[in-house]
Amino acid sequence: MGTMEGLEVTDCEQCPALVDCRSQIVNGTGPEDAALLFVGEGPGANEDEQGEPFVGRSGSVLDDKLRDAGLSRMDVRITNCVRCRPPENRDPTKEELSNCREHLEREIELVNPDVIVTLGKVPSQHLLDRNVAVTSEAGSIANAELGGEIRDVLICVHPAATLYDRSQESTFESAIEKAATMAGSSGGQSSLGEF
Ligand code: URA
Repeated sequence: MGTMEGLEVTDCEQCPALVDCRSQIVNGTGPEDAALLFVGEGPGANEDEQGEPFVGRSGSVLDDKLRDAGLSRMDVRITNCVRCRPPENRDPTKEELSNCREHLEREIELVNPDVIVTLGKVPSQHLLDRNVAVTSEAGSIANAELGGEIRDVLICVHPAATLYDRSQESTFESAIEKAATMAGSSGGQSSLGEF
């Protein structure tokens, strides 16, 4: 199992198919005390290559919408339900999700965010343990016991959904704006930094 104490998983080998496929374990990124924790599904090719969540096209969409909402990627924590790339970008299996759950629970407990934002159907259903119609439920808050506490979970569509279906762009934007408001986007970084 290796290092199990902190936010970084260094040598987990619980999922044979993912161990075969990955080039590295992709841990969460961002402040260890972030008010907002974004949770995606799992690393894709770019993330597997660079060792950081949401660095491909989905990541650009997320970065842009965070900026529009007055946040920077540097202000938030970003992680995934599974930390190793599934083959051919398939969805993680129930077993893989459950194997990786301990890492996610520990990250939630240590970061202790004000709001957890689920990016897409897989993380929404995984964290809420029910079927979620992400498009119609996006922007709504649900409660779930995560990292030892009942927490606010803001349901959101996956950033890639906006690339396939432009009508999802405003759905995504509104949810990110709501996340920024809930986390008090006025605190922290000075807006003068933009000039
Ligand atoms: N999609 C995800 O769900 N997670 C990533 O890290 C990248 C793309």
